[in-house]
Amino acid sequence: MSHRIQLLLFAISIASTKTYDTTSCIPNTPCRCYLTQYSLTLSNCSQQLADLPIFDSQNVNSITKIIARNALTQWPNQLCQYSSIQILDLSGSYLDSPVTDFSCLTHLVHVNLSNTQLTTIPNFQNNYLQILDLSNNNIKHIDGNDFQPMNNLLSLFLQNNPIQSIDHLGSVFQLENIQLVNLVSSYPDVTLQQSVTISQWIQLANQWENSTKSFLVRMNNIPFQSIIPNPEQFQMIPSESMTTILEMFINSTFVTLFNTPKCNCFHLREYQRSFTYVDYSKKYTSSLFQFTKCLMPDGITHARLFDRFTYVDLRCPLLGKISFYPLLSRSSSIVLTRSFILFILLSSFVLY
Ligand SMILES: *[C@@H]1O[C@H](CO)[C@@H](O)[C@H](O)[C@H]1NC(C)=O
Ligand SMILES: *[C@@H]1O[C@H](CO)[C@@H](O)[C@H](O)[C@H]1NC(C)=O
Ligand SMILES: *[C@@H]1O[C@H](CO)[C@@H](O)[C@H](O)[C@H]1NC(C)=O
Ligand SMILES: *[C@@H]1O[C@H](CO)[C@@H](O)[C@H](O)[C@H]1NC(C)=O
Repeated sequence: MSHRIQLLLFAISIASTKTYDTTSCIPNTPCRCYLTQYSLTLSNCSQQLADLPIFDSQNVNSITKIIARNALTQWPNQLCQYSSIQILDLSGSYLDSPVTDFSCLTHLVHVNLSNTQLTTIPNFQNNYLQILDLSNNNIKHIDGNDFQPMNNLLSLFLQNNPIQSIDHLGSVFQLENIQLVNLVSSYPDVTLQQSVTISQWIQLANQWENSTKSFLVRMNNIPFQSIIPNPEQFQMIPSESMTTILEMFINSTFVTLFNTPKCNCFHLREYQRSFTYVDYSKKYTSSLFQFTKCLMPDGITHARLFDRFTYVDLRCPLLGKISFYPLLSRSSSIVLTRSFILFILLSSFVLY
């Protein structure tokens, strides 16, 4: 640090609380600095700052908030010296670096790294993190296990990344306090790896049962059907658990444009039956009900997964409407359909 800056910084620390400087506070940058005992705000840096300044090394530990939007040209080496920060906003900076390690900051609560050219999920070692904004970056692969240590996470923003694959999505759902997950990808085809297993779903349903938490997931290019158990597996999961799961996703949106999954009457019947038990007054206007669709075997009709009317309109076998039948496998439903037709034939014969 040059002598001149030190003098300037000295002046700033003396003035201590409110300092608005009309000339730049950091030489060779257009930055404006606002320093209080607890916070440091840099504005108008126009992405020309190479590192975070240390104005007062005595007080560096009392700073709990750093706001430096559109400020940095690279990863700030001095960041770790601000060991007490809870609120960190470096959005709009250029942070692309092989190592983006925040493990030195163990008090972070709110972190905004939106639009910082990140290509991987940074390393955080901290239990206090509640809000993490990693949106508008270049992250292609997401591993839900990376978020596992963040027990208190409430909101996770990952939208507008070219997300191509997601591993261990279940780990994100399992976060105890999570309320909002935005995974809307700018890449048209997202693959899901190590998807949520049946036993994880049962565990999640137990965790969610009786909970009043609000939960919102936003995704595109990953159909809801490939996240939840498929209809062939419905027998393996208690129906109350299935109801709890659908209730938890009721406000979530899963929009598919290119990869709407195929379905048939059997699938529709199973989905619609599990939706019947959903206990929520607005379930027929919910996002889940409106947006979750599948493609019928004709390759043209997009049927709403949970809408019984589509079932009737599509002339699916009448049997499907009878909901008191026990869960049927595909083969037994064919047998029953046959006996039902036989029964109708017989009765019409008798009537005739
Ligand atoms: C930052 O720049 C904008 C316009 O570019 C200007 O209006 C604003 O006053 C500047 N802020 C400071 C603190 O100088
Ligand atoms: C993060 O910063 C961006 C741009 O500065 C802003 O639009 C966004 O709302 C912030 N995110 C959160 C969660 O505050
Ligand atoms: C949920 O509530 C029901 C009835 O109030 C109770 O029987 C059940 O044990 C509760 N489940 C959990 C996981 O707390
Ligand atoms: C869905 O939204 C409604 C109100 O719009 C709210 O009452 C309900 O708790 C929400 N459910 C979840 C699981 O977030």
